[in-house]
Amino acid sequence: MGLTFSVILLFISSSVQPASPRINYLLYCSGCHRVTGEGKPPNVPTLHDELGRMLSVPEMRSYLVRIPGATQAPLSDAELADVVNWLLQEFNADTLPADFQNLSAEEVTEARKNALMDPIKYRTKYWKSYED
Ligand code: HEC
Repeated sequence: MGLTFSVILLFISSSVQPASPRINYLLYCSGCHRVTGEGKPPNVPTLHDELGRMLSVPEMRSYLVRIPGATQAPLSDAELADVVNWLLQEFNADTLPADFQNLSAEEVTEARKNALMDPIKYRTKYWKSYED
């Protein structure tokens, strides 16, 4: 195999790899939540710390992927699960419940069937409002 051919093959095989969760976060979430995840309060919430805390409430697990910005991203269910699992570890490691299990692609498929029309109302009902 010639060198040029090997290089082309390498290029093709690396470009069909699924994007890493970090890259998908940068592409589809960071425009609003910023590269470092701190958002632009009060309009765009931070993704640091509180997501880990809210996971103590079972209803808040699916919330993370039923939120419009997440659920409508052009990502597969498996990719969205990876992005959210990534940002939980990256930005919420200190607040995640000790028994936290990663979201699965199947869970995300189910959750996406029920996108939240009014995420703030849901959040306030099962967890707390942004102001509390
Ligand atoms: C167009 C801007 C925008 C994009 C893009 C976006 N979000 Fe959001 N996100 C928001 C806003 C605004 C809220 C507050 C709730 C609402 O109004 O939807 C929010 C809320 C959230 C929340 C809940 C935070 C809390 O404290 O309740 C999570 C989790 C979240 N987004 C994750 C994501 C993920 C993951 C992505 C990328 C796949 C993403 N968002 C992309 C704007 C965005």
